[in-house]
Amino acid sequence: MTETLENPLLEGLKLRRTPDPCVFVIFGASGDLTQRKLIPAIYSLAYRHLLPEKFAVVGVARSQENDEQFRQRMEAAVREHARDPFRDDVWGPLADGMYYVSTEFADDSGEDRLTSLLSQLDQERGTAGNRLVYFAVPPSAIGMIVEELAPRRETTGWSRLVIEKPFGHDLDSAHELTALLQKYFVEEEIFRIDHYLGKETVQNMLALRFANGIFEPIWNRQFVDHVQITVAETMGIENRAGYYEQAGAIRDIFQNHLLQLLALTAMEPPIDFTSEQVRNEKVKVLRSVHTPGPKSVVRGQYGRGYVEGEEVAGYRDESGVAPGSMTETYLAAKLYVDNWRWADTPFYVRMGKRLARRETTIAIEFKRAPHPPFEDSATEALRPNVLVVHVQPDEGVSLAIGAKVPGAGMTIRTVHMDFLYGGTFRTGLPEAYERLILDAMLGDQTLFTRTDEVEEQWSLVDAIVAAWKRDRPAFPNYSAGTWGPASADDLIHRDGRSWRRN
Ligand code: BG6
Repeated sequence: MTETLENPLLEGLKLRRTPDPCVFVIFGASGDLTQRKLIPAIYSLAYRHLLPEKFAVVGVARSQENDEQFRQRMEAAVREHARDPFRDDVWGPLADGMYYVSTEFADDSGEDRLTSLLSQLDQERGTAGNRLVYFAVPPSAIGMIVEELAPRRETTGWSRLVIEKPFGHDLDSAHELTALLQKYFVEEEIFRIDHYLGKETVQNMLALRFANGIFEPIWNRQFVDHVQITVAETMGIENRAGYYEQAGAIRDIFQNHLLQLLALTAMEPPIDFTSEQVRNEKVKVLRSVHTPGPKSVVRGQYGRGYVEGEEVAGYRDESGVAPGSMTETYLAAKLYVDNWRWADTPFYVRMGKRLARRETTIAIEFKRAPHPPFEDSATEALRPNVLVVHVQPDEGVSLAIGAKVPGAGMTIRTVHMDFLYGGTFRTGLPEAYERLILDAMLGDQTLFTRTDEVEEQWSLVDAIVAAWKRDRPAFPNYSAGTWGPASADDLIHRDGRSWRRN
Protein backbone atom coordinates (compact mmCIF):
# COMPACT_ATOMS: atom_id res chain seq x y z
CA MET A 1 0.00 0.00 0.00
CA THR A 2 1.22 3.50 -0.73
CA GLU A 3 0.92 6.28 1.84
CA THR A 4 0.74 9.71 0.27
CA LEU A 5 1.64 12.70 2.39
CA GLU A 6 2.28 15.14 -0.39
CA ASN A 7 0.37 17.98 1.17
CA PRO A 8 2.77 19.51 3.70
CA LEU A 9 -0.20 20.80 5.65
CA LEU A 10 -1.19 17.22 6.44
CA GLU A 11 2.16 16.62 8.05
CA GLY A 12 1.57 19.64 10.26
CA LEU A 13 -1.84 18.36 11.27
CA LYS A 14 -0.41 15.03 12.30
CA LEU A 15 1.55 16.67 15.13
CA ARG A 16 0.12 16.10 18.54
CA ARG A 17 1.35 19.39 19.97
CA THR A 18 2.39 22.76 18.64
CA PRO A 19 5.44 24.33 20.23
CA ASP A 20 5.02 27.25 22.60
CA PRO A 21 5.80 30.73 21.33
CA CYS A 22 9.57 31.20 21.50
CA VAL A 23 12.71 32.86 20.21
CA PHE A 24 15.28 30.67 18.48
CA VAL A 25 18.67 32.15 19.35
CA ILE A 26 21.67 30.92 17.37
CA PHE A 27 25.18 31.51 18.65
CA GLY A 28 27.53 31.06 15.70
CA ALA A 29 25.06 32.51 13.21
CA SER A 30 27.70 33.29 10.62
CA GLY A 31 28.93 29.71 10.46
CA ASP A 32 28.35 26.95 7.97
CA LEU A 33 25.93 24.95 10.11
CA THR A 34 23.53 27.88 10.39
CA GLN A 35 23.43 28.36 6.64
CA ARG A 36 23.44 24.77 5.52
CA LYS A 37 21.25 23.17 8.15
CA LEU A 38 19.65 25.35 10.82
CA ILE A 39 17.94 28.09 8.82
CA PRO A 40 16.91 25.74 5.98
CA ALA A 41 15.39 23.47 8.66
CA ILE A 42 13.51 26.40 10.20
CA TYR A 43 12.26 27.32 6.73
CA SER A 44 11.00 23.77 6.11
CA LEU A 45 9.23 23.79 9.47
CA ALA A 46 7.57 27.09 8.51
CA TYR A 47 6.68 25.60 5.12
CA ARG A 48 4.75 22.85 6.92
CA HIS A 49 3.14 25.16 9.49
CA LEU A 50 5.01 23.44 12.30
CA LEU A 51 6.45 26.55 13.96
CA PRO A 52 4.60 28.43 16.68
CA GLU A 53 2.68 31.41 15.41
CA LYS A 54 4.59 33.71 17.77
CA PHE A 55 8.17 33.11 16.81
CA ALA A 56 11.43 34.95 16.12
CA VAL A 57 15.01 34.06 15.20
CA VAL A 58 18.00 35.92 16.60
CA GLY A 59 21.40 35.23 15.07
CA VAL A 60 24.43 36.06 17.20
CA ALA A 61 27.98 36.09 15.85
CA ARG A 62 31.18 38.08 15.72
CA SER A 63 30.92 39.39 12.16
CA GLN A 64 29.47 42.83 11.61
CA GLU A 65 26.08 42.65 10.03
CA ASN A 66 22.70 44.32 10.43
CA ASP A 67 19.28 42.64 10.50
CA GLU A 68 18.70 43.24 6.82
CA GLN A 69 22.06 41.79 5.77
CA PHE A 70 21.47 38.77 7.98
CA ARG A 71 18.05 38.21 6.40
CA GLN A 72 19.51 38.44 2.93
CA ARG A 73 22.28 35.99 3.71
CA MET A 74 19.78 33.57 5.23
CA GLU A 75 17.50 33.90 2.22
CA ALA A 76 20.39 32.90 -0.03
CA ALA A 77 21.09 29.96 2.30
CA VAL A 78 17.47 28.81 2.11
CA ARG A 79 17.43 29.11 -1.67
CA GLU A 80 20.56 27.02 -1.87
CA HIS A 81 20.11 24.44 0.86
CA ALA A 82 16.44 24.01 1.80
CA ARG A 83 14.73 20.84 0.63
CA ASP A 84 11.55 22.73 -0.19
CA PRO A 85 11.01 25.19 -3.02
CA PHE A 86 11.45 28.83 -2.14
CA ARG A 87 8.15 30.60 -1.53
CA ASP A 88 7.84 34.29 -0.76
CA ASP A 89 4.71 33.74 1.33
CA VAL A 90 6.66 31.37 3.59
CA TRP A 91 9.94 33.25 3.69
CA GLY A 92 8.48 36.79 4.05
CA PRO A 93 6.82 36.35 7.47
CA LEU A 94 9.74 34.28 8.72
CA ALA A 95 12.31 36.86 7.62
CA ASP A 96 10.29 39.65 9.26
CA GLY A 97 10.97 37.97 12.59
CA MET A 98 14.74 37.59 12.06
CA TYR A 99 17.28 39.71 13.90
CA TYR A 100 21.00 39.84 14.27
CA VAL A 101 23.31 40.78 17.13
CA SER A 102 26.97 41.22 16.42
CA THR A 103 29.19 40.63 19.45
CA GLU A 104 32.32 39.05 20.78
CA PHE A 105 31.02 36.16 22.82
CA ALA A 106 32.60 37.25 26.09
CA ASP A 107 31.50 40.82 25.70
CA ASP A 108 29.09 42.18 28.32
CA SER A 109 27.69 44.94 26.20
CA GLY A 110 26.85 42.49 23.39
CA GLU A 111 25.02 40.23 25.82
CA ASP A 112 23.14 43.25 27.18
CA ARG A 113 22.06 44.17 23.67
CA LEU A 114 20.91 40.60 23.12
CA THR A 115 18.96 40.59 26.38
CA SER A 116 17.17 43.82 25.60
CA LEU A 117 16.36 42.62 22.07
CA LEU A 118 14.87 39.45 23.51
CA SER A 119 12.68 41.41 25.94
CA GLN A 120 11.59 43.66 23.13
CA LEU A 121 10.62 40.60 21.05
CA ASP A 122 8.61 39.23 23.96
CA GLN A 123 6.62 42.48 23.93
CA GLU A 124 6.31 42.90 20.19
CA ARG A 125 6.00 39.32 19.00
CA GLY A 126 4.54 37.64 22.09
CA THR A 127 7.37 35.15 22.55
CA ALA A 128 6.64 34.90 26.28
CA GLY A 129 10.20 34.66 27.61
CA ASN A 130 10.73 31.24 26.00
CA ARG A 131 14.18 30.69 24.48
CA LEU A 132 15.68 27.89 22.46
CA VAL A 133 19.37 28.69 22.43
CA TYR A 134 21.44 26.85 19.85
CA PHE A 135 25.20 26.65 20.31
CA ALA A 136 26.70 26.29 16.84
CA VAL A 137 30.12 27.23 18.23
CA PRO A 138 33.24 25.27 19.24
CA PRO A 139 33.06 23.67 22.72
CA SER A 140 35.65 26.15 24.02
CA ALA A 141 33.23 29.06 23.43
CA ILE A 142 30.24 27.45 25.15
CA GLY A 143 31.40 28.04 28.72
CA MET A 144 31.98 31.72 28.13
CA ILE A 145 28.56 32.23 26.58
CA VAL A 146 26.75 30.29 29.28
CA GLU A 147 28.44 32.36 32.01
CA GLU A 148 27.26 35.54 30.27
CA LEU A 149 23.80 34.26 29.51
CA ALA A 150 22.78 32.60 32.75
CA PRO A 151 22.65 35.67 35.02
CA ARG A 152 20.49 37.42 32.43
CA ARG A 153 18.03 34.57 32.24
CA GLU A 154 14.34 35.51 32.11
CA THR A 155 12.27 34.67 35.13
CA THR A 156 9.28 33.79 32.98
CA GLY A 157 9.17 31.17 30.24
CA TRP A 158 11.50 28.28 29.55
CA SER A 159 15.12 28.17 28.40
CA ARG A 160 16.59 25.21 26.57
CA LEU A 161 20.13 24.86 25.32
CA VAL A 162 20.94 22.84 22.24
CA ILE A 163 24.61 21.89 22.17
CA GLU A 164 26.26 20.68 18.99
CA LYS A 165 28.75 17.89 18.99
CA PRO A 166 31.50 17.36 19.92
CA PHE A 167 30.41 17.65 23.54
CA GLY A 168 33.92 18.11 24.95
CA HIS A 169 37.10 16.51 23.66
CA ASP A 170 37.38 13.64 26.11
CA LEU A 171 35.71 12.40 29.28
CA ASP A 172 37.29 15.05 31.52
CA SER A 173 36.34 17.98 29.33
CA ALA A 174 32.82 16.58 28.87
CA HIS A 175 32.52 16.36 32.66
CA GLU A 176 33.67 19.94 33.01
CA LEU A 177 31.24 21.18 30.41
CA THR A 178 28.37 19.33 32.06
CA ALA A 179 29.35 20.71 35.47
CA LEU A 180 29.38 24.23 34.08
CA LEU A 181 25.98 23.82 32.42
CA GLN A 182 24.52 22.27 35.53
CA LYS A 183 25.54 25.31 37.58
CA TYR A 184 22.70 27.13 35.86
CA PHE A 185 20.56 24.61 34.00
CA VAL A 186 19.00 21.25 34.81
CA GLU A 187 19.40 18.16 32.63
CA GLU A 188 15.88 18.64 31.19
CA GLU A 189 17.06 21.94 29.74
CA ILE A 190 20.19 20.55 28.07
CA PHE A 191 19.77 19.08 24.59
CA ARG A 192 22.97 17.45 23.29
CA ILE A 193 22.38 17.02 19.62
CA ASP A 194 23.53 14.08 17.53
CA HIS A 195 21.90 14.68 14.19
CA TYR A 196 21.95 10.98 13.29
CA LEU A 197 19.16 10.45 15.80
CA GLY A 198 17.02 12.87 13.82
CA LYS A 199 17.30 10.79 10.65
CA GLU A 200 14.06 9.00 9.79
CA THR A 201 15.87 5.82 8.88
CA VAL A 202 17.67 5.73 12.21
CA GLN A 203 14.39 6.08 14.07
CA ASN A 204 13.00 3.40 11.83
CA MET A 205 15.38 0.98 13.53
CA LEU A 206 13.14 1.30 16.58
CA ALA A 207 9.99 0.81 14.51
CA LEU A 208 11.48 -2.18 12.73
CA ARG A 209 12.57 -3.87 15.92
CA PHE A 210 9.78 -3.02 18.30
CA ALA A 211 6.68 -2.63 16.13
CA ASN A 212 7.13 -6.02 14.45
CA GLY A 213 6.81 -9.31 16.23
CA ILE A 214 9.03 -11.28 13.88
CA PHE A 215 12.46 -9.75 14.41
CA GLU A 216 12.92 -9.59 18.18
CA PRO A 217 12.89 -13.36 18.77
CA ILE A 218 15.88 -13.79 16.45
CA TRP A 219 17.65 -10.53 17.32
CA ASN A 220 20.30 -12.10 19.52
CA ARG A 221 23.46 -14.19 19.72
CA GLN A 222 21.62 -17.43 18.99
CA PHE A 223 20.58 -16.36 15.51
CA VAL A 224 22.82 -13.43 14.61
CA ASP A 225 26.29 -14.28 13.37
CA HIS A 226 27.57 -10.72 13.48
CA VAL A 227 26.60 -7.10 12.85
CA GLN A 228 28.30 -4.62 10.51
CA ILE A 229 27.83 -0.88 10.81
CA THR A 230 29.28 1.31 8.09
CA VAL A 231 29.44 5.10 7.92
CA ALA A 232 31.27 5.72 4.65
CA GLU A 233 31.66 9.14 3.10
CA THR A 234 33.13 10.20 -0.23
CA MET A 235 33.62 13.73 1.07
CA GLY A 236 36.93 14.86 2.48
CA ILE A 237 37.18 17.33 5.31
CA GLU A 238 35.89 20.30 3.30
CA ASN A 239 37.22 23.46 4.95
CA ARG A 240 37.23 22.06 8.45
CA ALA A 241 40.89 21.18 8.96
CA GLY A 242 41.12 23.18 12.19
CA TYR A 243 38.38 21.10 13.75
CA TYR A 244 39.16 17.78 12.09
CA GLU A 245 42.86 17.77 12.97
CA GLN A 246 41.80 17.74 16.64
CA ALA A 247 38.89 15.36 16.20
CA GLY A 248 39.80 12.66 13.68
CA ALA A 249 37.32 9.94 12.76
CA ILE A 250 37.13 8.71 16.34
CA ARG A 251 35.72 11.96 17.76
CA ASP A 252 33.93 13.08 14.61
CA ILE A 253 31.89 9.95 13.92
CA PHE A 254 32.72 7.03 16.23
CA GLN A 255 32.15 8.80 19.56
CA ASN A 256 28.68 9.95 18.60
CA HIS A 257 26.93 8.83 15.39
CA LEU A 258 28.42 5.38 15.25
CA LEU A 259 27.96 4.50 18.91
CA GLN A 260 24.39 5.73 18.76
CA LEU A 261 23.67 3.48 15.78
CA LEU A 262 25.18 0.60 17.71
CA ALA A 263 23.14 1.39 20.80
CA LEU A 264 19.87 1.46 18.85
CA THR A 265 20.74 -1.83 17.17
CA ALA A 266 21.69 -3.63 20.37
CA MET A 267 19.36 -2.13 23.01
CA GLU A 268 16.59 -3.98 24.82
CA PRO A 269 12.98 -2.97 24.16
CA PRO A 270 12.21 0.08 26.34
CA ILE A 271 9.05 -0.20 28.42
CA ASP A 272 7.70 2.90 26.69
CA PHE A 273 8.90 5.54 24.27
CA THR A 274 9.62 8.24 26.82
CA SER A 275 13.01 9.90 26.77
CA GLU A 276 14.03 8.38 30.08
CA GLN A 277 13.19 4.81 29.12
CA VAL A 278 14.73 4.94 25.65
CA ARG A 279 17.91 6.48 26.98
CA ASN A 280 18.07 4.10 29.93
CA GLU A 281 18.23 1.21 27.48
CA LYS A 282 20.80 2.86 25.23
CA VAL A 283 23.10 3.69 28.09
CA LYS A 284 23.05 0.06 29.23
CA VAL A 285 24.38 -0.98 25.84
CA LEU A 286 27.11 1.65 25.90
CA ARG A 287 28.10 0.46 29.35
CA SER A 288 28.34 -3.12 28.09
CA VAL A 289 30.70 -2.35 25.23
CA HIS A 290 33.99 -3.96 26.00
CA THR A 291 37.11 -1.86 25.31
CA PRO A 292 38.61 -3.42 22.18
CA GLY A 293 42.23 -4.55 22.30
CA PRO A 294 44.76 -2.91 19.95
CA LYS A 295 44.41 -5.72 17.39
CA SER A 296 40.71 -5.02 17.14
CA VAL A 297 41.06 -1.40 16.08
CA VAL A 298 42.46 -0.16 12.77
CA ARG A 299 43.24 3.44 11.91
CA GLY A 300 43.67 4.88 8.45
CA GLN A 301 44.43 8.11 6.70
CA TYR A 302 43.75 8.76 3.01
CA GLY A 303 46.35 9.60 0.45
CA ARG A 304 45.81 10.97 -3.02
CA GLY A 305 43.35 9.12 -5.22
CA TYR A 306 40.23 9.24 -7.35
CA VAL A 307 36.77 9.71 -5.89
CA GLU A 308 33.83 9.35 -8.26
CA GLY A 309 36.16 9.86 -11.21
CA GLU A 310 37.88 12.98 -9.89
CA GLU A 311 41.41 13.21 -8.62
CA VAL A 312 41.54 14.42 -5.03
CA ALA A 313 44.35 15.43 -2.68
CA GLY A 314 45.59 13.30 0.17
CA TYR A 315 44.65 14.32 3.70
CA ARG A 316 48.08 15.73 4.49
CA ASP A 317 47.84 17.99 1.44
CA GLU A 318 44.50 19.48 2.44
CA SER A 319 44.74 23.13 3.40
CA GLY A 320 45.23 23.62 7.12
CA VAL A 321 46.45 20.06 7.75
CA ALA A 322 49.94 19.56 9.20
CA PRO A 323 52.28 17.89 6.63
CA GLY A 324 53.06 14.98 8.96
CA SER A 325 49.59 14.82 10.52
CA MET A 326 48.78 11.59 12.36
CA THR A 327 45.03 12.32 12.45
CA GLU A 328 42.97 9.32 11.36
CA THR A 329 40.34 9.75 8.66
CA TYR A 330 39.27 6.10 8.86
CA LEU A 331 38.55 3.78 11.73
CA ALA A 332 37.45 0.17 11.86
CA ALA A 333 36.90 -1.86 14.99
CA LYS A 334 35.55 -5.11 16.28
CA LEU A 335 33.39 -4.46 19.32
CA TYR A 336 31.61 -6.75 21.72
CA VAL A 337 28.51 -5.91 23.68
CA ASP A 338 29.02 -7.98 26.79
CA ASN A 339 25.52 -8.86 27.87
CA TRP A 340 23.16 -11.82 27.85
CA ARG A 341 21.73 -11.01 24.42
CA TRP A 342 24.96 -10.33 22.54
CA ALA A 343 27.89 -12.06 24.29
CA ASP A 344 30.45 -13.29 21.71
CA THR A 345 28.67 -11.66 18.76
CA PRO A 346 31.04 -9.30 16.98
CA PHE A 347 29.92 -5.84 15.92
CA TYR A 348 32.27 -4.80 13.14
CA VAL A 349 32.15 -1.06 12.63
CA ARG A 350 33.92 1.14 10.11
CA MET A 351 33.79 4.79 9.16
CA GLY A 352 35.86 7.00 6.96
CA LYS A 353 36.27 9.97 4.70
CA ARG A 354 37.09 9.74 0.99
CA LEU A 355 35.89 6.18 0.66
CA ALA A 356 34.61 4.52 -2.50
CA ARG A 357 30.96 5.30 -1.96
CA ARG A 358 28.68 7.24 0.38
CA GLU A 359 26.84 4.70 2.45
CA THR A 360 25.50 4.42 5.99
CA THR A 361 24.15 0.97 6.73
CA ILE A 362 23.47 -1.37 9.60
CA ALA A 363 23.65 -4.98 8.49
CA ILE A 364 22.53 -7.88 10.67
CA GLU A 365 23.98 -11.07 9.28
CA PHE A 366 22.22 -14.21 10.48
CA LYS A 367 23.68 -17.66 11.00
CA ARG A 368 23.28 -20.12 8.17
CA ALA A 369 20.51 -22.70 8.11
CA PRO A 370 21.68 -25.59 10.26
CA HIS A 371 21.12 -28.40 7.77
CA PRO A 372 20.09 -27.43 4.25
CA PRO A 373 18.85 -30.69 2.69
CA PHE A 374 20.32 -29.87 -0.73
CA GLU A 375 23.42 -30.94 -2.57
CA ASP A 376 26.37 -28.64 -1.92
CA SER A 377 26.37 -27.49 -5.52
CA ALA A 378 22.77 -26.23 -5.13
CA THR A 379 23.73 -23.66 -2.53
CA GLU A 380 27.12 -22.54 -3.83
CA ALA A 381 25.74 -19.08 -4.72
CA LEU A 382 23.79 -18.74 -1.50
CA ARG A 383 24.94 -16.19 1.03
CA PRO A 384 23.69 -15.95 4.62
CA ASN A 385 20.49 -14.04 5.36
CA VAL A 386 21.23 -10.39 5.97
CA LEU A 387 18.87 -7.67 7.08
CA VAL A 388 20.24 -4.30 5.99
CA VAL A 389 18.95 -0.99 7.24
CA HIS A 390 19.97 1.56 4.61
CA VAL A 391 20.27 4.76 6.60
CA GLN A 392 21.45 6.68 3.52
CA PRO A 393 21.35 6.98 0.57
CA ASP A 394 18.61 4.74 -0.97
CA GLU A 395 16.84 4.85 2.39
CA GLY A 396 15.05 1.63 3.20
CA VAL A 397 15.42 -1.90 4.49
CA SER A 398 16.36 -5.00 2.58
CA LEU A 399 16.41 -8.65 3.46
CA ALA A 400 18.63 -11.12 1.65
CA ILE A 401 17.08 -14.57 1.36
CA GLY A 402 17.73 -17.73 -0.63
CA ALA A 403 15.37 -18.47 -3.54
CA LYS A 404 15.21 -21.22 -6.10
CA VAL A 405 16.45 -20.26 -9.52
CA PRO A 406 13.71 -21.19 -12.03
CA GLY A 407 14.50 -24.33 -14.01
CA ALA A 408 14.57 -28.07 -13.80
CA GLY A 409 17.29 -28.50 -11.20
CA MET A 410 17.57 -27.18 -7.64
CA THR A 411 19.84 -24.17 -7.60
CA ILE A 412 19.47 -21.64 -4.85
CA ARG A 413 20.64 -18.08 -5.05
CA THR A 414 20.48 -14.99 -2.87
CA VAL A 415 17.73 -12.50 -3.74
CA HIS A 416 16.57 -9.32 -1.99
CA MET A 417 13.26 -8.18 -0.59
CA ASP A 418 13.34 -4.41 -0.47
CA PHE A 419 11.38 -1.68 1.23
CA LEU A 420 12.28 1.73 -0.18
CA TYR A 421 11.06 4.88 1.54
CA GLY A 422 10.84 6.83 -1.71
CA GLY A 423 8.61 4.25 -3.40
CA THR A 424 6.38 3.52 -0.43
CA PHE A 425 5.66 6.85 1.18
CA ARG A 426 6.06 9.13 -1.85
CA THR A 427 7.18 12.00 0.31
CA GLY A 428 10.61 13.53 0.77
CA LEU A 429 12.28 12.62 4.03
CA PRO A 430 12.61 15.50 6.48
CA GLU A 431 16.09 16.69 7.29
CA ALA A 432 17.32 15.46 10.67
CA TYR A 433 17.64 19.03 11.95
CA GLU A 434 13.95 19.76 11.33
CA ARG A 435 12.88 16.95 13.58
CA LEU A 436 15.42 17.76 16.26
CA ILE A 437 14.80 21.51 16.41
CA LEU A 438 11.07 20.84 16.63
CA ASP A 439 11.55 18.27 19.39
CA ALA A 440 13.68 20.73 21.35
CA MET A 441 10.93 23.36 21.00
CA LEU A 442 8.49 20.77 22.32
CA GLY A 443 10.83 19.86 25.18
CA ASP A 444 11.14 16.23 24.04
CA GLN A 445 14.60 14.85 24.79
CA THR A 446 14.13 11.31 23.45
CA LEU A 447 16.38 11.92 20.45
CA PHE A 448 19.06 13.82 22.38
CA THR A 449 22.02 12.38 24.24
CA ARG A 450 21.91 12.32 28.05
CA THR A 451 24.90 13.09 30.30
CA ASP A 452 25.54 9.46 31.18
CA GLU A 453 25.38 8.38 27.53
CA VAL A 454 27.90 10.96 26.43
CA GLU A 455 30.19 10.00 29.29
CA GLU A 456 30.05 6.31 28.38
CA GLN A 457 30.87 7.21 24.80
CA TRP A 458 33.88 9.23 25.90
CA SER A 459 35.14 6.51 28.26
CA LEU A 460 35.35 4.12 25.35
CA VAL A 461 37.03 6.68 23.10
CA ASP A 462 39.55 7.65 25.79
CA ALA A 463 40.52 4.00 26.29
CA ILE A 464 41.06 3.48 22.56
CA VAL A 465 43.00 6.71 22.13
CA ALA A 466 45.23 5.91 25.12
CA ALA A 467 46.31 2.67 23.41
CA TRP A 468 47.20 4.60 20.21
CA LYS A 469 50.01 6.44 21.99
CA ARG A 470 52.04 3.24 21.75
CA ASP A 471 52.18 2.85 17.98
CA ARG A 472 52.51 5.00 14.92
CA PRO A 473 50.88 3.65 11.77
CA ALA A 474 52.46 4.43 8.40
CA PHE A 475 50.05 7.10 7.18
CA PRO A 476 48.71 7.55 4.55
CA ASN A 477 47.64 3.93 4.31
CA TYR A 478 44.72 4.03 1.90
CA SER A 479 44.09 5.82 -1.36
CA ALA A 480 41.14 8.14 -1.62
CA GLY A 481 38.28 6.40 -3.40
CA THR A 482 38.98 2.92 -1.97
CA TRP A 483 37.42 1.06 0.94
CA GLY A 484 40.14 1.89 3.47
CA PRO A 485 43.41 0.30 4.55
CA ALA A 486 44.26 -3.35 3.92
CA SER A 487 44.60 -3.86 7.66
CA ALA A 488 40.84 -3.27 7.99
CA ASP A 489 40.27 -6.24 5.71
CA ASP A 490 42.68 -8.29 7.80
CA LEU A 491 40.70 -7.36 10.92
CA ILE A 492 37.59 -9.09 9.64
CA HIS A 493 39.23 -11.78 7.45
CA ARG A 494 40.97 -13.15 10.54
CA ASP A 495 37.51 -14.20 11.73
CA GLY A 496 36.64 -15.81 8.39
CA ARG A 497 34.27 -12.97 7.45
CA SER A 498 34.39 -10.00 5.10
CA TRP A 499 33.07 -6.46 4.86
CA ARG A 500 29.90 -6.07 2.88
CA ARG A 501 30.46 -4.42 -0.46
CA ASN A 502 26.83 -3.73 -1.38
C1 BG6 B 1 29.03 15.37 11.03
C2 BG6 B 1 30.52 15.24 10.92
O1 BG6 B 1 28.63 15.20 12.36
O2 BG6 B 1 28.42 14.36 10.23
C3 BG6 B 1 30.96 15.36 9.47
O3 BG6 B 1 31.14 16.26 11.68
C4 BG6 B 1 30.22 14.35 8.62
O4 BG6 B 1 32.36 15.15 9.34
C5 BG6 B 1 28.72 14.48 8.86
O5 BG6 B 1 30.53 14.62 7.26
C6 BG6 B 1 27.97 13.38 8.15
O6 BG6 B 1 26.60 13.64 8.25
P1 BG6 B 1 25.58 13.07 7.18
O7 BG6 B 1 24.25 13.46 7.72
O8 BG6 B 1 25.92 13.70 5.88
O9 BG6 B 1 25.80 11.59 7.16
